[in-house]
Amino acid sequence: MILAVHSSPIQDGNLERMVKRVALASGHRFELIELHELGISPCRGCVCCATSKRCVQEDDMEPLYDKLETMDGFILGGVNYNGRLNSLAHIFLERLFPLYHQEPVFRDLPAAVVAVGGKDPDRAAGDMIEYLRDIYFFQVVGSALYASDTPPAFPAVWERSARWACRP
Ligand SMILES: Cc1cc2nc3c(=O)[nH]c(=O)nc-3n(C[C@H](O)[C@H](O)[C@H](O)COP(=O)(O)O)c2cc1C
Repeated sequence: MILAVHSSPIQDGNLERMVKRVALASGHRFELIELHELGISPCRGCVCCATSKRCVQEDDMEPLYDKLETMDGFILGGVNYNGRLNSLAHIFLERLFPLYHQEPVFRDLPAAVVAVGGKDPDRAAGDMIEYLRDIYFFQVVGSALYASDTPPAFPAVWERSARWACRP
């Protein structure tokens, strides 16, 4: 089972569609995790997870740890916000810390990154690749990048925006 995590706040947006495409193309069974639907707080820095291998925070990250520990492959999707990987992706990546301390459970596990940007998805892709490879020791086997203002995807954003944009 592959876990495919998409971190855009936008449902059915460019990133979600890209992540699904990549997951389907893998030919494996996958579960899509949509971070915008979950309540996941940033790491508190207490490092209690170093011994327990679990975070002390009781939030929506809790049920994900078991799945992350047993997955056969990983797809992470991130968006370029202001030249960097978006914050939801960063928060999620920080919270993988419990699975790294005593033994890096992700060592050599295949991972792919999916990055979207209006013009420049590269920075988000680079951030994810470095994080997964250098911190958690995934084997990053591929990446898919998409510059979303290439028609026809970008107009679709504006069509949708009438429905949901600018509401609290
Ligand atoms: C706050 C914000 C900052 C952004 N900054 C950049 C940027 O610096 N470079 C870029 O190429 N795209 C930037 N974008 C555009 C998004 O990366 C792009 O629209 C992407 O397709 C969004 O994917 P989504 O449809 O999954 O949300 C920004 C978008 C937002 C909302």
